[in-house]
Amino acid sequence: MLIAQITDIHIGFDPGNPDEYNMQRLRVVLDRIAAGPNRPDLLLMTGDLTEFGDAQSYARLVEAVSVCPFPVLPMAGNHDAREALLAAFPQVSSHEGFVQYARDLGGLRLVVLDTLDPGRHGGGFCETRAAWLAAELAAHPDTPTVIALHHPPFESGLSWLDSGAQEPWIQRLEQAMAGHGQVRAIISGHLHRTIQTMWQGVPTMVCASTAPLVSLDLNPVDPERPDGREMISNELPAYALHRWDGERLVSHVENVGGHQILVRYDERMQDTVRLIVGERSGG
Ligand SMILES: [Fe+2]
Repeated sequence: MLIAQITDIHIGFDPGNPDEYNMQRLRVVLDRIAAGPNRPDLLLMTGDLTEFGDAQSYARLVEAVSVCPFPVLPMAGNHDAREALLAAFPQVSSHEGFVQYARDLGGLRLVVLDTLDPGRHGGGFCETRAAWLAAELAAHPDTPTVIALHHPPFESGLSWLDSGAQEPWIQRLEQAMAGHGQVRAIISGHLHRTIQTMWQGVPTMVCASTAPLVSLDLNPVDPERPDGREMISNELPAYALHRWDGERLVSHVENVGGHQILVRYDERMQDTVRLIVGERSGG
């Protein structure tokens, strides 16, 4: 089972421009996912699909992902609007208006959460959503589960974007997950960089964006003193490829574009490959 993940696409950042920079970056990534060597079983888009939550931007996104010959699942981020998102992706179910749903992927359960709190940049996770998650996890205690949500529930050190560890929505998430040992991984977006940690004993990852990346500067930010630090750059767009082997989720990240292939597997590489593969029975 291969799950491709893209996140923070931000279509409509340049309103009215169907060939905007964020669309160009998205297309490069989609081409790689759809035509590259690793055909995923599905594509998960972990929020901030659009910049302003408008129907035209969702329509452009739907058209762009139509190159994918596999299912495409959307999620909500803080830049999204639920009604417009759900209208653009009618195949997605919702729970009391929230973009929350679960999919059985054949031995692996994917649980999609909605952490949108309209008007806030940071996350939200109300009692209604928390109760749904607790019930969902209680109903499938023996099925390995991946939770996907837009906002990562940990402090990354990217201080101008971080959520505080004590924010109520994080505590509700923590309580809803408590006692449910089937959660094998948490995957998220929002921070526009690839980041990994453990949270509540679960491997937790942020995938880098297709839109421009957030610069890596872990110094505390002072809202009263602009210090000229790097904030956004055109580092290459990226996607994650999560491989479920029946026991564990192994997550890869590929940056797309701007590189050359230096070595291919031809007869010159055959001895090296024979040697490496042949070693496996020993060691
Ligand atoms: Fe974003």
